[in-house]
Amino acid sequence: MRVLFVTGNQNKVTEASGILSPLGFAIEQLLIGGQVPDLIEPQAEGIEEIAKSKLEQAVSLTMGTEFENEVLLVEDSGLFIDSLSGFPGPYSSFVKETIGLSGVLSLMSEETDRGAEFRAVAAVSFRGSILTSTGICRGVISENISGDFGFGYDPIFIPEEANGRTCAQLSSHEKSAISHRGFALKGVSELLNPPSK
Ligand code: IMP
Repeated sequence: MRVLFVTGNQNKVTEASGILSPLGFAIEQLLIGGQVPDLIEPQAEGIEEIAKSKLEQAVSLTMGTEFENEVLLVEDSGLFIDSLSGFPGPYSSFVKETIGLSGVLSLMSEETDRGAEFRAVAAVSFRGSILTSTGICRGVISENISGDFGFGYDPIFIPEEANGRTCAQLSSHEKSAISHRGFALKGVSELLNPPSK
C-alpha cells in the first residue's frame, strides 16, 4: 500500500520508510507541483490536535488532484521534559531552532531529575476517516551533546533501552525499534492492515 507522508523533514521520511517498508508499505513524500505543501501549524496544546489539523489541511489540498484518494500520513512529535512541565513539547522545533541543544542543556544544568520522553502522534487519512496512533519513548536528558546520527534532539536524549547511549549514537534500526515514531507508525500500520483473526 502506498502512503504519502506530508512533511518537509527528510529525516522523518527516511525513518518512516525504514519502519513501514518491511511491513509492506511504500512511503513517499507528498509533493504537490513539486513542492512540500505549506501547512499551518495550529497553536494547540497537544501534538494530537496538531497532527489531525495538519492532516485535514493536507486532505483539503489534495482534493481534485491526482492524490485525492491516496492514504496521507502526518506525524507530529516533540520532546517533553518532566522537570520543565513538558517543555518544549509542541514547541520542540521552534526551541531547537532558537536556543538549540546547548540552550536546553543550560536550562537543565542544575536539574537532578533528568527524565523526559519523546512523543509522536501519527495520523492517516484512509477511506474518508482519520486514524491516529501514539508512540512514547521514555529516557533522560544527557549531560552532554553526543553522537552523529539522527536529527533534532537525538544527541541529548538517552532512551531507557539504549544502555546509556543517546539516540544519535544508535543505528537507525536500533532507534526505530524503541522510538516514539517507531511505535506510532507500527500502530498506524496495524490500523491500516489489521491482522486477520
Ligand atoms: P514536528 O516536525 O512539529 O513534529 O517537530 C518535531 C520536533 O521535535 C523536531 O523538529 C525535533 O526537533 C523534535 N523531534 C521529534 N522527533 C524527534 C526524534 O526522533 N529525534 C530527535 N528530535 C525529534
